[in-house]
Amino acid sequence: MLLHRAVIPHLRQACRLKSAPSRLYIRACSTDDSLQPQCPSLAFSGDNSSTGGWKVMGTLLGLGAVLAYHDHRCRATQESPHVYTREEVRSHSSPETRIWVTLGCEVFDVTEFVDLHPGGPSKLMLAAGGPLEPFWALYAVHNQPHVREMLAQYKIGELSPEDKVTSTLKTSDPYIDDPVRHPALKVNSQRPFNAEPPPELLTENYITPNPIFFTRNHLPVPNLDPETYRLHVVGPPGGQSLCLSLDDLYKFPKHEITVTLQCAGNRRSEMTQFKEVRGLEWNIGAISTARWAGARLCDVLAKAGHQLCETEAHVCFEGLDSDPTGTAYGASIPLARAMDPEAEVLLAYEMNGQPLPRDHGFPVRVVVPGVVGARHVKWLGKVSVEPEESYSHWQRRDYKGFSPSVDWDTVDFDSAPSIQELPVQSAITEPKDGETVQSGEVTIKGYAWSGGGRAVVRVDVSLDGGLTWHVAELDGEEQRPRKAWAWRLWQLQAPVPAGRKELNIVCKAIDDSYNVQPDTVAPIWNLRGVLSNAWHRVHVHVAP
Ligand code: MTE
Repeated sequence: MLLHRAVIPHLRQACRLKSAPSRLYIRACSTDDSLQPQCPSLAFSGDNSSTGGWKVMGTLLGLGAVLAYHDHRCRATQESPHVYTREEVRSHSSPETRIWVTLGCEVFDVTEFVDLHPGGPSKLMLAAGGPLEPFWALYAVHNQPHVREMLAQYKIGELSPEDKVTSTLKTSDPYIDDPVRHPALKVNSQRPFNAEPPPELLTENYITPNPIFFTRNHLPVPNLDPETYRLHVVGPPGGQSLCLSLDDLYKFPKHEITVTLQCAGNRRSEMTQFKEVRGLEWNIGAISTARWAGARLCDVLAKAGHQLCETEAHVCFEGLDSDPTGTAYGASIPLARAMDPEAEVLLAYEMNGQPLPRDHGFPVRVVVPGVVGARHVKWLGKVSVEPEESYSHWQRRDYKGFSPSVDWDTVDFDSAPSIQELPVQSAITEPKDGETVQSGEVTIKGYAWSGGGRAVVRVDVSLDGGLTWHVAELDGEEQRPRKAWAWRLWQLQAPVPAGRKELNIVCKAIDDSYNVQPDTVAPIWNLRGVLSNAWHRVHVHVAP
């Protein structure tokens, strides 16, 4: 009876473990961190070649006793579950240490389930050592009774009471009011917060979910009250300035567009590998796509009495985030772009149908389709039209490109134009560098985008470092001519040439001006590591 009670649930579970048909590991319960001595894992071998009748009987009797003990321990555990700290849970984040996760106040050891995760092991591993909620919130398919039942089988204990309570202590830390972030984000710097989605999530959806949209902050996130928020739009000389509340902005015609935003430093880490640069080590994820809605900048400027003028002019934006000296983030774009209805520059208050998240500029930010992320000023406080570009550090002393020969002793920031439209870009999100792929056929996925509204017309993919090429299939929204503001996702299913042990996968995109990415980093290297758009390369092993 005891044997039956202890074995049957696990056998049922084992039936679902299709990857381990001949060998079943039973961990009846666990009473300590290592899951070791008191409740050892029991291994049943499906190989019966060496077992005689007595051996079977002995094994079963011994097994019965051990399982009875385990059953007893299990019930004891149910009565008073083992308690773990968050710190302990955090330390179980790899197959070597076992993989634990939490849901609410419950702790689960999902080591055996990782390979069975329908979304793939790598997705579940993103939550290893931490809470599942942020991922379940993103992928609502998990919120179903059968998923909870399945998870319940892996429960090993509960979180300690102190870890259920979050601290509300405030300090003088300027970042104390920063919002809570999604744990899937790969953090490049915590203060200010800079983070990107991991490659395997980046192209999972055409529209990047808000919680994993890359974040590039130079300063603490301001905490703005939507009731008292005002946007100051300076009028032309002799004209009238506007002081717009959110409700005033909502009265302008609402315009909605899908726009990809990319930081100038995207893929900087590849430049660093060639030669050191100054800046955050972005991988391929400083790029994301959202559906933005708001008032068109041209409508707001027109309301303030601005017109296109013959002489050069710039629209300067000021954020409400500032450093300890009170200096705000700022940037500018040419007036001609701002006033052009076809350029669709937005004062956005919605991102994917939601009010802007705090990290992305709540309550209002600029969205400049086809232009480098630095000009999409968040937490917008002021708009003015000036004869010169913004005097902000980020317009004049940053976000500019230079020759590879220029170093920090010779650089003259005034000699280079500020980056506006970005060059053509693409990257491989699947497989990952160093991964082992199956022989037979390989699936390669990625994104491609170009600045200035230029559409991506083709993505070429090579499995042999660029000797021969395949043309990838373009997915995602078809883009309008001259208004291709959003990326195309792409994929390729290609046969793995027989006998190959390794693949040097390379991709390059071509836009409708027939601009193509350069093949290597060397000729485009620059001291700030911006505009990094050489062919993206991923080296993988082929399973024997
Ligand atoms: N606006 C303000 N006010 N402060 C900032 O730090 N960062 C800029 C831009 N707008 C920034 C800002 C940079 S460099 C980029 S790449 C984008 O915001 C990033 O936008 P995101 O964080 O919404 O992805």
